[in-house]
Amino acid sequence: MRRQSIQTKIVLPFLLLFAPISIFVPLITVELFAWKYSEQFIKETQGWLNVIMETGFIREPIEKVKQAYSVEVMIFSSDFTLNGSTLTDLPYDEQLRDNLIEVLRLKQVKESFQNEIDSPITQDVTLGGKHYKVFYRAVQLGRIYCLLRPMETIADAKRTLTLYMLGIAIVVTALVALISHRIGKNITEPIKDLVGFTEQVAEGNLEEQCEVKTHDEIGDLTIAFNQMTEELKQSRDKLIQAERLATAGKMSASFAHEIRNPLSSMRMLSQMLMQKPETSDEQQKSLQYILEEIERIDNIVKGLMDFASPTKLNLELQSLTPVLQSVLTLMEANLTHHQIELSLDLASDFPDFNFDADKIKQAFMNVVLNAMEAMPQGGTLTISTFQENEMVCIRVCDTGIGISEEDIEHLFEPFFTRKTKGTGLGLANVKRIVEEHNGTVEIASPLGEGTTVSLWLPMKLQD
Ligand SMILES: Nc1ncnc2c1ncn2[C@@H]1O[C@H](COP(=O)(O)OP(=O)(O)OP(=O)(O)O)[C@@H](O)[C@H]1O
Ligand SMILES: [Mg+2]
Repeated sequence: MRRQSIQTKIVLPFLLLFAPISIFVPLITVELFAWKYSEQFIKETQGWLNVIMETGFIREPIEKVKQAYSVEVMIFSSDFTLNGSTLTDLPYDEQLRDNLIEVLRLKQVKESFQNEIDSPITQDVTLGGKHYKVFYRAVQLGRIYCLLRPMETIADAKRTLTLYMLGIAIVVTALVALISHRIGKNITEPIKDLVGFTEQVAEGNLEEQCEVKTHDEIGDLTIAFNQMTEELKQSRDKLIQAERLATAGKMSASFAHEIRNPLSSMRMLSQMLMQKPETSDEQQKSLQYILEEIERIDNIVKGLMDFASPTKLNLELQSLTPVLQSVLTLMEANLTHHQIELSLDLASDFPDFNFDADKIKQAFMNVVLNAMEAMPQGGTLTISTFQENEMVCIRVCDTGIGISEEDIEHLFEPFFTRKTKGTGLGLANVKRIVEEHNGTVEIASPLGEGTTVSLWLPMKLQD
């Protein structure tokens, strides 16, 4: 089937409906008007004829009647001989008696007079190239009095009216076409935008939103489509993140495995060398240094292994505050050493809930370590906990260097780090642990105001 645009589908029915209406209605109106006008014309002329008969005006010369009423007059004797006529300039053959009998149908008229038919006799004739309506009257001695009224006025009026009506019909049709075109455009333009946007989305561009131009069903459709695109983007991002995590996990697992074994041999050998009496002080120092570095590598490997092979959660109904306190006790010395002031606001009024203490400790420690590392010149570390609806929030605020807008969206990617000695696995692990608890992590870093990390954990853990 031929493809038709919505615009054509709107404009075409309007035109098909209005064009015939706007042509036929005026034509019918003109015909009705002409019919009414002609009725009036006949009545009026009959009236004149009555006046002429009743007032004796008939005895006046016919030229006078012609002048008074702007009509032509013809009088025929009983044998149809022309007794008088104001139509003096008729062509010769039209003036002939037989022709006049024929054209004016004098025989039929005479017959109807003899049969005394009451209704006035009229008919349309053409004489000398002009149209007339003829009105007959029987007068004395069987004569026939004919009044010929020119019909040009009716024809002129009809012509003028037809022209006006056709003009109006054309204007109305043009207006209908214009208005329906505008209506069609108003409807189709937002649809076209939406189609263009859909094509973009189909090509994989989920970054943009379609502008909502109308507040109607199409506007609603655009809003719904924008929402769908946004959700699609979010799930695509999640999928990419999950894929990255899975790949990183596999890689990490094999690296960790390969590194750990030689690492423990190196640690063991270094320790043995250190215990030997012949090892000089200088060598002892170097060995100590080697052992510290081995320790650091071991920590990184541990982080990798945590990330690569998440263990099952060991959920227990317990209080959160002591768990956080134990981490802070461990870090106290470190914080003091870095001249970081600790401000605590741990709520004690929310009930115990199910969580894996070790994992939460690990996540919390990562966040506190990041905060500490962000304040090399010292600062304030504010830690608070509170409950909102069915969620518990652990909030860690620092007054450190903050995070650039461009970095914010990469924070949870494995191996994303801005630190020379960082692995970039800290926050990836935090996110994984919190999400295993069905919670969420939020990070805000308003320019120049440090960073706030919020770990939201549900109090009623669902599978
Ligand atoms: N509180 C914070 N203030 C400023 N930057 C932060 C903060 N927390 C995280 N970041 C930024 O996020 C990056 C990623 O953090 P993440 O904890 O994942 O890795 P890391 O700290 O670099 O390395 P790791 O934790 O393995 O030692 C950091 O390198 C740092 O740039
Ligand atoms: Mg970190």
